[in-house]
Amino acid sequence: MKVETSIFFDTITINAGASAALVLERARKVGINLRDAGDGRLGISCDETTQPEHIKALWRCVSPDDARLAALEAKLDGASTIPASLQRSGAFLTAAVFHAHRSETDLLRYMRRLSDMDLALDRTMIPLGSCTMKLNATAEMIPITWPEFGALHPFAPADQTEGYHELFAILEHALCAVSGYDAVSLQPNSGAQGEYAGLLAIRGYHQANGQSERDVCLIPASAHGTNPASAQMVGMRVVVTACDAAGNVDLEDLRKKIAQHEGRIAALMLTYPSTHGVFEEAVVEICDLVHEAGGQVYLDGANMNAQVGLARPGLYGADVSHFNLHKTFCIPHGGGGPGMGPIGVKAHLAPHLPVVPRRVMPLPSRQRLSVQHRSCRSRSPMC
Ligand SMILES: Cc1ncc(COP(=O)(O)O)c(C=O)c1O
Repeated sequence: MKVETSIFFDTITINAGASAALVLERARKVGINLRDAGDGRLGISCDETTQPEHIKALWRCVSPDDARLAALEAKLDGASTIPASLQRSGAFLTAAVFHAHRSETDLLRYMRRLSDMDLALDRTMIPLGSCTMKLNATAEMIPITWPEFGALHPFAPADQTEGYHELFAILEHALCAVSGYDAVSLQPNSGAQGEYAGLLAIRGYHQANGQSERDVCLIPASAHGTNPASAQMVGMRVVVTACDAAGNVDLEDLRKKIAQHEGRIAALMLTYPSTHGVFEEAVVEICDLVHEAGGQVYLDGANMNAQVGLARPGLYGADVSHFNLHKTFCIPHGGGGPGMGPIGVKAHLAPHLPVVPRRVMPLPSRQRLSVQHRSCRSRSPMC
């Protein structure tokens, strides 16, 4: 058994050689997951919640010799594992505020003063756009504090995360049911990330069809700022199309821009209903125009809650959408993120979803009934 890491803060690698499988197994039995780095190497990470008992339990997975652990502890007591060259020698926390509040009461009053300066939903509407249509109820935010949700390590082995996978499957099915899409990726962590992932799927689709030259992204002037930013990030050229006085997409201008960029249209990004609450009456025609020009329709689903049960983007012509679950479906989020911006796609874009093309998994039978009950059975765009 050899410790490979010489300089460390909270993570080391040990080489357990032929005993690695045994150590891993013992650790799992006492509720500790180690990283199996292959070739007999095991990664061990600690954090501020690690207690001496955890270290002892871990030690026993490696060696039955408690006395040796005690001797090592005594030897290391107070010794730093960070070499002098990496240790901070300058002053820190020098800003006056770190020294101005020396009692708990002072600190409390200071924090209260700061919170009084905050413009938040508990006192007013925040003029930020559709993101702020609603305030999540506290009851909806509480589950994120449950360790079953919040304390799970993102790389926990699959057989320890079955509950999460069940939730993923239910959510994917529910999203497909309300949106009319065929596949969902839960990976994007915000609307903007969903836009990025969705546009990459569109780009991948064009490339797979030998049409890499399609690089124009049409975006109505009414769009949220993240739309042109995302298009730019995937290397598309943004072409802005006009809106009329009521905020509707100007169809004449759209036709003009499509003709101007014939053969180069990659996508149109359309928010429906739009940020200022407009349901484009011509949405089906808009989707048709883009498809006829060989483009794909990215329907920004930030405001999807406004159409659930009324219409389904996958059926009235859109190819891909993100859903800002943290804004319109009560998923807890923390002021600017993290959130959830899953994307739904029609089947032809599914192979271009992030990483593993993830078709919707079969639902456990218990859930299948309730989701079917809630979903819309009609295949028409209107439910
Ligand atoms: C229409 C629209 N699209 C996209 C976004 C971006 O979503 P997020 O803030 O989750 O990245 C927002 C939110 O502000 C939005 O209102």
